Amino acid sequence: MPLLEGSVGVEDLVLLESLVEESLLKNLQLRYENKEIYTYIGNVVISVNPYQQLPIYGPEYIAKYQDYTFYELKPHIYALANVAYQSLRDRDRDQCILITGESGSGKTEASKLVMSYVAAVCGKGEQVNSVKEQLLQSNPVLEAFGNAKTIRNNNSSRFGKYMDIEFDFKGSPLGGVITNYLLEKSRVVKQLKGERNFHIFYQLLAGADAQLLKALKLERDTTGYAYLNQEASRVDGMDDASSFSAVQSAMAVIGFSEEEIRQVLEVTAVVLKLGNVMVADEFQANGIPASGICDGREVQEIGEMVGLSSEELERALCSRTMETAKEKVVTALNVMQAQYARDALAKNIYSRLFNWIVNRINESIKVGIGEKKKVMGVLDIYGFEILEDNSFEQFVINYCNEKLQQVFIEMTLKEEQEEYKREGIPWTKVDYFDNGIICNLIEHNQRGILAMLDEECLRPGVVSDSTFLAKLNQLFSNCFRICHYAGKIRAQAQAEGNTGGTWGKGQVLGQGCGVTYNVTSFIDKNNDLLFRDLSQAMWKAQHPLIRSLFPEGNPKQASLKRPPTAGAQFKSSVAILMKNLYSKNPNYIRCIKPNEHQQRGQFSSDLVATQAQYLGLLENVRVRRAGYAHRQGYGPFLERYRLLSRSTWPRWNGGDREGVEKILGELSISSGELAFGKTKIFIRSPKTLFYLEEQRRLRLQQLATLIQKIYRGWRCRTHYQLMRKSQILISSWFRGNMQKKRYGKIKASVLLIQAFVRGWKARKNYRKYFRSEAALTLADFIYKSMVQKFLLGLKNNLPSTNVLDKTWPAAPYKCFSTANQELRQLFYRWKCKRFRDQLSPKQVETLREKLCASELFKGKKASYPQSVPIPFCGDYIGLQGNPKLQKLKGGEEGPVLMAEAVKKVNRGNGKTSSRILLLTKGHVILTDTKKSQAKTVIGLDDVAGVSVTSLKDGLFSLHLSEMSSVGSNGDFLLVSEHVIELLTRMYRAVLDATQRQLAVTVTEKFSMRFKENSLAVRVVQGPAGGDNSKLRCKKKGSHSLEVTVQ
Ligand SMILES: Nc1ncnc2c1ncn2[C@@H]1O[C@H](COP(=O)(O)OP(=O)(O)O)[C@@H](O)[C@H]1O
Ligand SMILES: [Mg+2]
Repeated sequence: MPLLEGSVGVEDLVLLESLVEESLLKNLQLRYENKEIYTYIGNVVISVNPYQQLPIYGPEYIAKYQDYTFYELKPHIYALANVAYQSLRDRDRDQCILITGESGSGKTEASKLVMSYVAAVCGKGEQVNSVKEQLLQSNPVLEAFGNAKTIRNNNSSRFGKYMDIEFDFKGSPLGGVITNYLLEKSRVVKQLKGERNFHIFYQLLAGADAQLLKALKLERDTTGYAYLNQEASRVDGMDDASSFSAVQSAMAVIGFSEEEIRQVLEVTAVVLKLGNVMVADEFQANGIPASGICDGREVQEIGEMVGLSSEELERALCSRTMETAKEKVVTALNVMQAQYARDALAKNIYSRLFNWIVNRINESIKVGIGEKKKVMGVLDIYGFEILEDNSFEQFVINYCNEKLQQVFIEMTLKEEQEEYKREGIPWTKVDYFDNGIICNLIEHNQRGILAMLDEECLRPGVVSDSTFLAKLNQLFSNCFRICHYAGKIRAQAQAEGNTGGTWGKGQVLGQGCGVTYNVTSFIDKNNDLLFRDLSQAMWKAQHPLIRSLFPEGNPKQASLKRPPTAGAQFKSSVAILMKNLYSKNPNYIRCIKPNEHQQRGQFSSDLVATQAQYLGLLENVRVRRAGYAHRQGYGPFLERYRLLSRSTWPRWNGGDREGVEKILGELSISSGELAFGKTKIFIRSPKTLFYLEEQRRLRLQQLATLIQKIYRGWRCRTHYQLMRKSQILISSWFRGNMQKKRYGKIKASVLLIQAFVRGWKARKNYRKYFRSEAALTLADFIYKSMVQKFLLGLKNNLPSTNVLDKTWPAAPYKCFSTANQELRQLFYRWKCKRFRDQLSPKQVETLREKLCASELFKGKKASYPQSVPIPFCGDYIGLQGNPKLQKLKGGEEGPVLMAEAVKKVNRGNGKTSSRILLLTKGHVILTDTKKSQAKTVIGLDDVAGVSVTSLKDGLFSLHLSEMSSVGSNGDFLLVSEHVIELLTRMYRAVLDATQRQLAVTVTEKFSMRFKENSLAVRVVQGPAGGDNSKLRCKKKGSHSLEVTVQ
């Protein structure tokens, strides 16, 4: 019955209808052919190597498995990793992930998937990311140095690895510790057909640039190196060059310094070059075979690289110093021994380098002491190996796998059954093969194969592999049959002490399938000794890394005590590992290899059947089916799930068991699903557990919401109360302040009103004592005093009495300005009057004339301003002394007003002729200068008007009335030098004589009568424009005359 829609076969083998090996294999095959490589047995993941990239990995899938519980999605390593991680984070339980399976079954890949999943889901942040990066980057480095191509696996781990990843309480990684187990170092010097040496050698040669190669004294061609198997230097789908740069950058990420990386590569190169050191027979005088280096170049170069003289290196390789209590004896080595010594040195350098790298990585990723940690261990150990020729390495590898199977049995099968018994749960016993007997056979302290091997190694006398074999035969003859096949041992466990009958004849060491070990070199490999000469030589080297790899070479530290044998070391490290695993919650990934050819899609039932057998899958399913998936003490169970029931949450006063019963009763889980043990509750199917977990998750959400709700309410309330308090405080302050201000205002107003009222009252009271006009009187007084001051000031400050001086002091106050102005006028008039009063009648007359002239000509005639300062003198021809002219005027008419020589313009041709003009009170008389007879006498009555120009000239026309007798001849055009005076006096004379105002016209164009016609006179300003008043008259036609004033 498939669990999920669209699933192929059954996803959990526990659900198989008929549980026999055949159906189990069929189900695995069906799923494998449909690319479903993962299948569960309860919480164990079975992984069948697909030998192809499937699209079921990466961030998208990680996110998916992170969100779902174990059984909700298809089986996957991610699901297992998720369960382990969550249990670590949430239940605070240390975890271990045990990955087992044959070589090439996909263990290393599985461990990488687990690590990448955990790295993706655990905490984030700069620090955490760098830790993750370091943990993940340790893989490529360890794989380069510890993995190699084998016939079974192109990338086979040749060492065991257990990695503890350490987390803080939040589940963020802090760092880790890597433990490595027994590197297969024999591979350094020799590989099987079709296999390669460790990857790093090929990566170095392919990936190093020319400069690095030169520095390491290497050639790029792999064929030049004896330690590199010649047929298989390339692996399909593996790019050694790019892997090399990846390894270098990974080392840098982990924290290797450049110097350290260089030294590591140098040591690697030294190992490679050691393989090319050729030894040959050398002649010795005493006939004992000896050896020497054939071609000194390689030794020379190695010496240069490690900082050791080539002689010393050669000595160490080709001779051996035997030390006894008394003396030192140096013996030469024969060729075989020298080659052995060389290979031993290479193997040791390499394996110690590998250990050094692991320690160096640990240094980088180690967690500071004191930090509380939870641990997840991932075990990726070499898988069970059955080769054609199985040696010591396979022996210990398989021993380790037996031990792991033991863990599995102990923790799942045995422990489980025993627990049911302990707890008093009804149980049908499931038979399974307990491989304890095999483990015992190997590791028993006295009678185990390893113990015997150690004994044989330590035994004095001649020791060889065959003596060991003989011993094995002798010791186990009763309980084990050991078959000999040309020096090979076959250890077979007899059914001694095992009455169950499952361990019968034909079954041999190695969980159900026969493994025959070749005893050759067991002793040697177990001894794992390096001639002291070699370690001392290495210790003497200048190269710091090489030197540090051989501390026992230090003569001061050299002890005669033997180091523990390889077997004993391995046994104790396996024991530590087992202890470690037992302390953690196990999670199993059981890897299965579907075929021997690394072919995708091929499913070899036989091969899988064998693996299924020794992995005990069928028994696993059986126990699982019969048993309960989950158990937990009543106490912790109650603690975890008591929030699911109202009766147990939040308080429970009863016993743990009753509490558990209460909870499960309320959840109405069917009774078949549950069994109540003495101290524990058992839950049959994971589904029920997941249901419980889901309920708990929902309830937690509810509770979280409740807590959140209460907290939020509390927060809002306290916040509100705080705000309210503050508001009250603020408003009380505000109100107080406002009232204070208001009070201040009211008080000020009251005071003001009070002052007014009091003032008013006081004034009212006192009014009777004061005259109300006081102010007016005061104002009057003040005003008067101001006026007084003003007038007195004025008196002292009067301007001069000169009429032309018009200055006057300004009023001191604006209110006096009108008065001041009047005073000024008064003063002026007074000044003028005083001036006038001083004048004589003659001066008065002169001024009157000047006034009249001003009225007539001021602003009209250009020559007026010149005439102002010149006193009118009247007589310009010396009339007094000229009796002839005196005569001309009528005696009765009084004095001559004006006598002057004028020019008369001939109106006919414009020429001028001189005349004397006399003005009397009644007449204008014109006479020739020479003749004393008046030529023309014009009565002032007849003078109708005069026309003058506005220019500076003296031209004027005397318009006569037509009625006059002289007028018949027409008007006169005369030129006088004192035209202003002449015309003024004429004007006054006419006024006096006729009471008529003479019309004085100022114009440049006028017409005059000439005989019967009129003559148009036009006066123009000549170009000179000067102030002389020369005239040029020009007749223009008969009726017009143009006068140009020069
Ligand atoms: N999940 C997988 N997906 C794709 N290929 C795989 C997967 N697991 C294993 N392989 C292939 O099988 C080879 C051997 O796997 P590996 O993990 O190295 O085996 P082991 O460590 O058990 O010896 C890998 O190099 C890889 O090509
Ligand atoms: Mg591996």
